Amino acid sequence: MKKDNDGILLGPGVSRRDFMKMSAFTGLAASLGGLVSLDFLSASPAQAQGMGTVKPFTFAVMADHHTMGPKNNYMKMRVERCVQEVNNLSLKPDFIMSLGDVVHDGSDEQMKFFDELIAPLKAPVKYITGEHDWYLDMGESYGKHYGKTTYSWDHNGVHFIALNTVMLRDFWTARGLTAQERMDIAGTLNHPLPGPFHVGEKQLVWLRDDLKKVKKTTPIIIFSHSPLYYYYKPWNFWTEDAPEVHLLLEGYEHVQVIHGHVHHIVKNQIGSIKFASSLSTGWPHPYPTSGLPAGSPKMPRANPANIFGGLGWDTMGVDDQGEVSVKYEEWSRVKA
Ligand SMILES: [Fe+2]
Ligand SMILES: [Fe+2]
Repeated sequence: MKKDNDGILLGPGVSRRDFMKMSAFTGLAASLGGLVSLDFLSASPAQAQGMGTVKPFTFAVMADHHTMGPKNNYMKMRVERCVQEVNNLSLKPDFIMSLGDVVHDGSDEQMKFFDELIAPLKAPVKYITGEHDWYLDMGESYGKHYGKTTYSWDHNGVHFIALNTVMLRDFWTARGLTAQERMDIAGTLNHPLPGPFHVGEKQLVWLRDDLKKVKKTTPIIIFSHSPLYYYYKPWNFWTEDAPEVHLLLEGYEHVQVIHGHVHHIVKNQIGSIKFASSLSTGWPHPYPTSGLPAGSPKMPRANPANIFGGLGWDTMGVDDQGEVSVKYEEWSRVKA
C-alpha cells in the first residue's frame, strides 16, 4: 500500500481525489429508530434452506455516560436506569458494548464510581475509549479499568472490530499544558486547539493486518467512538482519516459501524458501509446546523423537564446474513 503526499494510506492505483469521490455521502437505508421490532431474529428463507452464515443474536450498546462521581446524581440515575433495563431484556444480549465517554473528567476515581454502577450488569461488557476517558492521563486509567481499546474477535460468524478513534495531534507539549488543561480542551467539542480526531497510522496498519484474516463475505461490525466519517467538523463529529478505513474495507459485503460521541440518533451509508450512532445516557447534543446525512432519522426534541429526555441506549439485532437492525431504546418515547 502506498502513501500520498499527506501520508495517507491509499490502495493500488487510487488517488486521494478518487478516493474522496468514492467516499461521498450517499443516501440512507435506515429504518426509524425506536420503531424496529425484533422480527429480524426469525429465520429468513435463506436460513431455512441452511444458507445463512451467521447464527442470529442480539447485543446491547450503551454510550456517553459522562459520569462524574457523586457530584452529579443525574448522571448516576441515568446509568442505573440503563443497567436495570438491559438486565430486564426478555431476549438476553450476548454482550454489551460500551462506546466510550464512560466518565467526564478521565479520572481513576470517576472510573471506579462508574464500575460500581454497572457491576450489576449480567451480560459481559466490552469497551472502547472516548476522549473524556483518555486525555487526563493518556489512557493510563482507561487501560487499568477496561484494557485494550483496539482489538477484534469473532462471534456467531461475525467479525467484530473495536477501534480507538479519538487520537488527537499533540497540542499540549509545546504549549506546556497541564494534564487537566489537556483534558479540558480535548473534552470541549468546539475548542479550536485540538483539530479533528484520527485513527492513526498504527491502527490503520493493525486493521489492514486484521482484515487479511477475514473473508469478503464475512459480516463485519466496527465500534468507534467518533463517527467514522465526516459529519460536522466544528463540533469534531469527524474522524479525519476515516476514508483510509473505508478503503481498507473495500470489497467487504456487509460492514456496519456503530459509534457514540454525537449523543443523538444519526444514520448514514457510504458505499456499502452503514453507520449508526448510539444514544447517550449523559445528555443529548442538538443536531448540527449542517452535515446531517440525507434521510437520517431524527429523534424528537428532548424535553428539558424530563431528566431522561432525549437519552437512552440501544439494542442491536444481527440476522442470519449479518445485517444489523438498530432499536433505539429512547427514554423520551417511553414513560419516564
Ligand atoms: Fe460524549
Ligand atoms: Fe466523545
